[in-house]
Formats: sequence, structure tokens, C-alpha cells
Amino acid sequence: MQYQFDKIIDRKNTNSVKWEPNVLKTMFGDEEMLPMWVADMDFKCPDPVVEALVKRAEHGIYGYADIDESYYEAIVDWNARRNNWQLDKSWIVFTPGVVPAVNYLVQTFCKTGDKVIIQNPVYYPFSMAINNNGAGIVLNPLKEEAGDYVMDYEDLEAKVKDPRVRMLILCSPHNPVGRVWRKEELERLGEICLANDVLVVADEIHSDLIMSGHQHTPFASISESFANNSITCVAPSKTFNLAGLQVSNIIIPNDKLRKEYQVTLENNAIRHPNTFGIVALEAAYTKGEPWLEAVLAYIEGNMDFIKKFVDERLPGVTFKKPEGTYLAWLDFRGLNMDQSSLEKWMQRDLKLALDEGYIFGSGGEGFERINAACPRSLIEEALGRIERGIKALNSK
Ligand SMILES: Cc1ncc(COP(=O)(O)O)c(C=O)c1O
Repeated sequence: MQYQFDKIIDRKNTNSVKWEPNVLKTMFGDEEMLPMWVADMDFKCPDPVVEALVKRAEHGIYGYADIDESYYEAIVDWNARRNNWQLDKSWIVFTPGVVPAVNYLVQTFCKTGDKVIIQNPVYYPFSMAINNNGAGIVLNPLKEEAGDYVMDYEDLEAKVKDPRVRMLILCSPHNPVGRVWRKEELERLGEICLANDVLVVADEIHSDLIMSGHQHTPFASISESFANNSITCVAPSKTFNLAGLQVSNIIIPNDKLRKEYQVTLENNAIRHPNTFGIVALEAAYTKGEPWLEAVLAYIEGNMDFIKKFVDERLPGVTFKKPEGTYLAWLDFRGLNMDQSSLEKWMQRDLKLALDEGYIFGSGGEGFERINAACPRSLIEEALGRIERGIKALNSK
């Protein structure tokens, strides 16, 4: 095999948020935890990216950088090829990270007291961005239906009627529940938002991580009116494991909205991209596709492995294979533990550093999010600990 995704690469002493012992001690109380929480991969990124970065590093001068045509072309070509989405390069606004972008977007389009809808359980920095920038959160919880998640349109229709609701943050694909929203689902949501003058911020950072049999639909690609009433956040960071390089792109087809966003960036002195970020993005989007196909197949294999293991060996736990993302959302409610006992059990007894479901907001209680972008042996180790833990609980 050309790629060695099974190989365990020691990430200690690389300032890794996920693996650094002092971070694990601070966050989870023990430096010997097996970390499968924060969403980055334990795989080396594609060789052409490493080669491009090494070449740039060898130049030895790392002064202020600017973006050139080839950067924009790489993004336009990638989206046309992978998602059948034809962007105009003038719509692309560089921003150093999707989370910073979501914060700047709330700053730009919400006044104090305005409200923003999120679909919980959902990526928790959305709530932080809303709260920290003076807006209020309105919940449009996802519904559990036949072991899966769907949007609650009746609830959404009711909530958008509040004139203070200005924005909806859509997570597409959805972290943590792993749904890849179908075009019809997005259409229904988009029509409701359009009719009620609610701006859609589509966080599509996971849009390249799609499992077989599913297809990502960029929200803005559905119609011109959706494009004009939306802002899409994309990045190569999840796709190619480049999160530490802080490069993301905010796609704003509507001229007026784009200008307003650019003023906020200006006011926050966000101007020059990271030198290495732009080099990595271009190499990844132009030469990283074979690696992406291979890593997706490996991750899907990990998901199948988890599914089989949970079904056969973890009584009280259920798991539905995600349609997208590399995040596995495991349901532990069948163990009948309250949230704090579940968390203590995971951390103190099993030494697993996972993302507790409750941090994603209501509806997440009783779940654990496992990052499956790692060598399969680590997943086997984690699930083995859970299996032994359940046996111990049942023998009490
Ligand atoms: C939905 C979602 N948005 C944004 C991010 C982080 O984006 P960035 O690192 O570009 O700030 C993540 C990371 O897990 C995510 O899951």
C-alpha cells in the first residue's frame, strides 16, 4: 500500500493539542490518556504538501505573505471538480480559520440582542461565537428518527418568526451527528430562511469527508437566491490535516454582504495569510486528491470496524455509521449512566480522552464522540477498553 495509515506516528513534543501530555493532564486529569477527541488526524498529510512546505521552508525568509491568482484558482478548481460548484474567485475571502470566521460573521451581521439559530447537538464553538459577540442563541434541535437525525422544520418555521433572528448557522456535513444533508433537506431549510430574511452561514469544513454512497451538496450551489442569502465556510484543514496552518476561505457571492464582512476583517487587522498555509492549500488542492481518496477509504474501514465491534461486543452502546466527517457518535444511553458518571468512567477508569456528548448542547447527553481519523489499532484499543469496562460494570 502506498500510504501507511496503519502506522502510529508519535505526536508528543510537537505542541499537539491532542497528544501533548501536559494538555491531557490539564484537560482530562491524566497525561496517560488515549486521546481521540479534538478533530485532527493522526495521519501524515499528503507527500506533495510536505514537499511544498519543505521547499518553502528552505527559502529561509518568512516575511509577510499575500495571496496570488494560483491560490484562488486552486479553490475554484477543487470545488468545481469535487462538488460541481462553480465559484467566482471574487467571492473568496481568506480568513485564518473557520471558527474565527464564524465569530467575525456574528460580529458583522448581528447587533447586540439579535438571535442566531443553531441545530443542536452541534459543534460547540458556534454557541461560543454567538454568546461572545453579543447575540442570543435560539435552538432548533435535530430530531432523532429511526436511529438517525433529521431537521425539525416545524420548529424552525416557528423560531424564524422572531424578528430578532438574523442568522442560522448550518453545519453541513453535521458535526457531531455525521449527517450529509440531502439536497431536498437543504432546500426546505433554505426556503424557510429566505422567506424570513434569515442569513444562512453554512459551515462546510467537513464537506470533503464524505462516505461512499453519499454526496455533499454545497448550500450555495442550490440556487442563486440561496447563494445570495448565504455565506459558506470551507477549508483544506480537516480534509488534509492542516488545521495548525490556519487557512480557511469564506465564500460570499453577495457583494454587499462580502464588503461588510471585509470591513470587519479590516477592523480586526486580519490581512496577511500565513506563508505556509497558502503553500499547503495550493499543494493539497492541486496534488492531494489521490491521498484523499485513500484516506477516505481507510476512515470508512475504521467506521465499519467500529460498527461491527459495537454491534457484537458492546452491549448497551449503539452506533450508526456516519454519512460524512471522520467523527463517530456513539450512543451510551443504554448503559443508564448519568452524564457525570459516564464522563468519569471514560476518563478515570478507561483512560479515554473523548469529546463528551453534552458539550455539543442538549441532545448530546449520553453520547461520546470518537475521532476515527487514526490508525485502526488505536480504535481497537479504545473499544477494547470500553468492552472491558462494560464487563466490569456488569459483573458488579
Ligand atoms: C464544524 C466545524 N467547524 C470548524 C472547525 C474548526 O475550524 P478552524 O480550525 O478552521 O477554526 C471544526 C473543527 O473541528 C468543525 O468541526
